[in-house]
Amino acid sequence: MQQLYNRRILLGISGGIAAYKSAELVRTLKKAGADVRVVMTRSAMEFITPLTLQALSGHPVHHSLLDPEAEAGMGHIELAKWADLFLIAPASANLIARLSQGMGDDLLTTVFLATDAPICLAPAMNQAMWRDPITQENIAHLKAAHGDHLTLIGPAAGEQACGDTGLGRMSEPDTIVADVANCFETGLLAGVSVVVTAGPTKEAIDPVRYITNHSSGKMGYAIAEAARDAGARVTLISGPVALQAPERMECVRVRSALDMLAACEKTQDHCQIFIATAAVADYRPASQQEHKIKKHSDELSLTLIRNPDILSTMAAAEQPPFTVGFAAETQDVEHYARDKLTRKKLNMIVANDVSDRSIGFHSDDNAVKVFWGEDGRRDFELMNKRRLAVRLIELIAEKYQEEH
Ligand code: C5P
Repeated sequence: MQQLYNRRILLGISGGIAAYKSAELVRTLKKAGADVRVVMTRSAMEFITPLTLQALSGHPVHHSLLDPEAEAGMGHIELAKWADLFLIAPASANLIARLSQGMGDDLLTTVFLATDAPICLAPAMNQAMWRDPITQENIAHLKAAHGDHLTLIGPAAGEQACGDTGLGRMSEPDTIVADVANCFETGLLAGVSVVVTAGPTKEAIDPVRYITNHSSGKMGYAIAEAARDAGARVTLISGPVALQAPERMECVRVRSALDMLAACEKTQDHCQIFIATAAVADYRPASQQEHKIKKHSDELSLTLIRNPDILSTMAAAEQPPFTVGFAAETQDVEHYARDKLTRKKLNMIVANDVSDRSIGFHSDDNAVKVFWGEDGRRDFELMNKRRLAVRLIELIAEKYQEEH
């Protein structure tokens, strides 16, 4: 159920005996990799405690619309915006009636009105209540109002808590989770583990000084986000940059090339695609002074030694991931990029011409040429780095799938 990985599912629980199954529902959604938050009606809390659902979801449970403290934390509008999908299970006859009338008289119904996310509704009630023409009318009304945006899950037939038999039981948690998963598309990199390096490295000279470069990290962060949006499990290993850590991925902050290498090597047991966008310092001071260097003489020499090549190290592993390098060139772009492709034993290299000041480093735009194999080549014209990242991830996914 790769589709649920990293998805934000808001679970709305209304009052009914089936609410006891919500615990299992949260557990199954979490197991599939979803982030789950819970909203309960007052009567739902008569059947299952918020504490149980808080422990299982790992988030505080939301139940009050008029609680200033809760609203100050994550209010109804934030919750509505947070959700990638709003699942309401169980949906009682009373809740369905309130939803169909557009009422916003508690937190759950208000979030329902406020959200743009797709909705899944899993009704649960006595068979006679389900058959009742007014319930059926309410369901028809909701379907007509929300069209494809609303998926009805169940109800299932069988024996009911009250002893009746018929249509009205809430579908089993496994069925609900499978139907919820089907609301999401499978991404091009669903379930694939991707590691991205980004930004510059800082090589310390003494406690206050260092050697670094102009890399902003923008391209790497955009690549990591595009991979995540394609369904990948992303680890972003970033040198010091001014960018915020992106959500829904592991972000490891490092300083020096040696730190970055160590962080990358830790991913070797699971990394399937390694994308090196970092501008790793080629050299570091041979020794780092313990104390600040004083101005005692007119001249100061620094001895620099080569840093290890992180990308080559990853590509030389016994079972190497699919490796993608970046090459900033100022002349003969294809010649130098292809040379790196073979020398570093890479699957693919993305080259840009940094002699052109409108692209690269601090710019929001980039134009690149991508090379792979004997004669594979694709040129991407100047475009926003975010758009370019999506196109590059599509190409990387295509070539990765061809090899696996
Ligand atoms: O050899 P050059 O530095 O031009 O290679 C650039 C590519 O190699 C980039 O993908 C960069 O992230 C990676 N690299 C690395 N470790 C280094 C130097 C470069 O991973 N020490």
